[in-house]
Amino acid sequence: MKLISRQERFYWTKHVKNKMRYYRLSENRLKRVLHSPDRKELGIAPITVAVMQKAGTKKHPTEIWLMYQKDKAKTKIITAWRYPGISPKRQPPPIPEDILWQLNLNKGKVEIPEEYSKGKTSFLSCKIDLSKIVFIPRIETEFWVKKAIENLKKKQEKLNILDIFAGSGCIGIAILKNIKNSKVDFSEIDNKAIEQIKINLKLNKIPKENYEVYQSDLFEGLKALHHDGYDYIFANPPYVAENRIKEVGDSALAYEPKKSLFSGKKGLSHIRKFLKQARGFLKENGIIYLEFDPQQKKDIEKMLEKQEYSSFKFFKDQFKKYRFARVKK
Ligand SMILES: C[S@@+](CC[C@H](N)C(=O)[O-])C[C@H]1O[C@@H](n2cnc3c(N)ncnc32)[C@H](O)[C@@H]1O
Repeated sequence: MKLISRQERFYWTKHVKNKMRYYRLSENRLKRVLHSPDRKELGIAPITVAVMQKAGTKKHPTEIWLMYQKDKAKTKIITAWRYPGISPKRQPPPIPEDILWQLNLNKGKVEIPEEYSKGKTSFLSCKIDLSKIVFIPRIETEFWVKKAIENLKKKQEKLNILDIFAGSGCIGIAILKNIKNSKVDFSEIDNKAIEQIKINLKLNKIPKENYEVYQSDLFEGLKALHHDGYDYIFANPPYVAENRIKEVGDSALAYEPKKSLFSGKKGLSHIRKFLKQARGFLKENGIIYLEFDPQQKKDIEKMLEKQEYSSFKFFKDQFKKYRFARVKK
């Protein structure tokens, strides 16, 4: 075991002191975990590290976890807990729910987004419940969905629409509320979002015959559907580049599901896969509305040319930044 350097200064938060009492953990015990961990992971809060040391017995294994933040001057111990059993590998640290919430309240610096503390928001006059902590709808999305709905209103025929990467379901619900004669399929990979979409459909009193909800990795779960394809596909995929993590707001990073934000090094993994597959799910003159990061415009243009979409146009959001594309099959 490594010796603890005498110079090392520790700062114990009020929160961790409470937890140490609760879990009967001493400062020395936690310092041992810190200096001889059996596992080390990125913490959940920004710029934190979580470490674990095995404890208990062979018959009744447990783990002692602690989360800390280190700078030149000190090591700040943020929280600690005991995990009963052996936590799954290659997954984020198994932080107890109560600690997550208590940290939210005590963090101060990283404020919980208002939409989560209220548990709801609105999107184009639709009520959007967010109690399942899914991606918070953004005003940039609201801006382009409003424009798209204005176009859809000009159509007379019944429209078959897909809201893929649906999150809270805000896009599809706004369409169903505004476009009579539309049927929307919602598709999402995340369990919590699936529950959230169903809650929001009820909340907005959408008749059951006007929608279906599918749990699906991109188009995977939609392959078995037998229809002539969609008239419209609406997509707001995760598109934040992993190397631009610093530009993501602290509260988004701390609270919003990571899989709703990031998409590989340049933020283009989901968009690339989506554009490859989407053509096969569109009707002959079908249209895609796609949201992206303004910096990705050129890369997306190349992808669209490569995939031989017949025409496409890029549009700016209310902040004069390229934010969405309208693409024809
Ligand atoms: C940026 S959010 C958009 C949510 C919502 N449409 C909106 O505009 O507010 C992206 C969503 O895509 C989902 N997602 C991520 N990877 C996915 C995948 N491979 N297949 C389907 N959905 C995915 C996330 O869970 C998240 O809810």
